[in-house]
Amino acid sequence: MGLTLAIIKPDAVEGRRVGRILAHLEDEGFGIRAAKFVRLDEAGAAEFYAVHRERPFYEPLKRFMTSGPILALALEREDAVAHLRKVIGATDPAEAEAGTVRALYAENKERNAIHASDSDETAQQELAFFFSKRGLMGAG
Ligand code: CMP
Repeated sequence: MGLTLAIIKPDAVEGRRVGRILAHLEDEGFGIRAAKFVRLDEAGAAEFYAVHRERPFYEPLKRFMTSGPILALALEREDAVAHLRKVIGATDPAEAEAGTVRALYAENKERNAIHASDSDETAQQELAFFFSKRGLMGAG
């Protein structure tokens, strides 16, 4: 079994779409192994999105991700990283396949409802950013 990290973003929390997104993920076979509501501050968002610091959307992305609470999730499933990427759909909901989380629940390319780790290596780093080893005990 593999573990990956998802974040339900401020647009979906504010818009009360958390329950429907969690149900969608459970229906796709993911077990929720840890969950935490977090309000990222500027330093936290800068650290989490350091890989994007040269991109034009970096500053607006940090503003958005610090604008309200987010829900960080450790999700377990066979082939967790690849399957979650498939289930959430393309970054831009206008390009996301029908039935994916972003096609169903995202507003636009920035306010796109959910984040998922893009590789096993990133998943390990991103899980460690939000959860302690103790908090993930028994998972993975
Ligand atoms: P995510 O893939 O979770 O992490 C990077 C985020 O940057 C992405 O979701 C979007 O929310 C945001 N973003 C905003 N504009 C763009 C863009 N032009 N290309 C990619 N990501 C973007």
